[in-house]
Amino acid sequence: MGEKTREIATLNLRGTAYELPVLAGTENEIGIDIQKLREKSAAITYDPGYVNTGSCKSAITFIDGDKGILRYRGYPIEELAGKIPFSAAAYLLLFGRLPEEKEFLQWRTDLTRHSFIHETLIQFFEHFPPTAHPMNILGSMVASMSAFYPYDAEDEQHIMLNIKRLVGQVKTIAAFSYKKSIGEPYIYPRSDHSYGANFLRMMFATPAEEYVVPEVMEDALDMLLILHMDHEQNCSTSTVRMVGSSQANIYASVSSGINALWGRLHGGANEAVLNMLEQIRQDGGDYKKYIELAKDKKSSFRLMGFGHRVYKNFDPRANLLRGAVDRLLSELGIHDPLLEIAKNLEETALKDDFFIERKLYPNIDFYSGICYRALGIPTEMFTVLFSIGRMPGWIAHWLEMREDPDTRIQRPRQIYVGSPLRHYHPPEIAPWDLVKQSKLF
Ligand code: ACO
Repeated sequence: MGEKTREIATLNLRGTAYELPVLAGTENEIGIDIQKLREKSAAITYDPGYVNTGSCKSAITFIDGDKGILRYRGYPIEELAGKIPFSAAAYLLLFGRLPEEKEFLQWRTDLTRHSFIHETLIQFFEHFPPTAHPMNILGSMVASMSAFYPYDAEDEQHIMLNIKRLVGQVKTIAAFSYKKSIGEPYIYPRSDHSYGANFLRMMFATPAEEYVVPEVMEDALDMLLILHMDHEQNCSTSTVRMVGSSQANIYASVSSGINALWGRLHGGANEAVLNMLEQIRQDGGDYKKYIELAKDKKSSFRLMGFGHRVYKNFDPRANLLRGAVDRLLSELGIHDPLLEIAKNLEETALKDDFFIERKLYPNIDFYSGICYRALGIPTEMFTVLFSIGRMPGWIAHWLEMREDPDTRIQRPRQIYVGSPLRHYHPPEIAPWDLVKQSKLF
């Protein structure tokens, strides 16, 4: 797997032929190994955005963007999302196989046992301003966990304990930050609830009365979280690997991934989709105007939730969610005008040459926001939900990176385009000497 083949690729550069080994993946993906290219030829490869660069070998997730295929550990996403609980899928991603009954029970119990936030860390919520974005809170809280749970990086049991803390606590931090924002008391996790049910209970229960988590909501949440769980070397996962490659601790690595996910071209897109749909609704529902705006090169407006770096046919996650949205809204008896706008946008864009030529299809975020909204999750929490789902994926990659003998600190090269050599000739009195003499500081 990912091994060198007998094939050799030849690069002709300035009259010299350089032979480069060829690698093949399980699904016949081809990679040209350029590790020695610079040493042999002084040339580097140039690939902004890493559109065509493989940074590692990985056995976690397989994507074929042209065929719309997504598999976790070999299983098609269609056979997992909506079919197994989130905690079982997390186990699969982290440990490479589905758990046996006993293992699953233990894993579920462990995740609840380690889902309590350190009581001192809970006080941190008090010190964020009321305007703090929940992603800001989540990233800071996860980074702070390393101060509370220092660990021996060589001790496998320590590593495993901290993995359970991360997967277990991310949902508690998310729910507590919401409770704090609305001024309600925190609700603590319970061991007789599943992962998803615990999260919903912590979000929506109050101490005043019993709260029964609606099964339809628990199932929809599990599906959403599984769909978000991993997507090979995306921006946030690559960030986790990049930070982890310096041997930074797991909390520092994962909190960096959370910050990367926050951007509106990545996980922040689900929030941006809802804001866009709301803007169209307030603008009288004229969705065609926004399609034209997205096509206008003079405008920076993009149809949020459309397009993907890898999927150039369809996003299988969006396909699964499209059906789930309809079911969820009808079972909960919700009529959402934003869904109407979303469907109109999708239908019109898919027939438009601009989108067809550029292979722009709805991505997962086009529908995930509407699902979250139906579950009663506030818009600014959408990317936090994405982070909860993505947590096992980030950790699986962090573990894989740690165990891979090929891992080296990640350090890309560049083509320097700045000034050629120039020299500094000190003037009689330099500006900084003048500032110092004026005693302005
Ligand atoms: N609306 C309008 N035009 C678009 C869109 C869009 N959503 N996405 C891409 N394009 C156009 C670009 O303007 C460009 O056109 P050009 O060739 O005429 O210059 C062409 O399509 C290619 O776009 P790139 O930005 O080069 O594609 P890239 O692979 O770099 O970006 C991305 C992918 C960031 C997802 C992009 O499609 C986008 O911005 N989409 C909207 C944001 C979004 O939904 N992000 C969520 C991604 S999924 C996820 O992270 C979970």
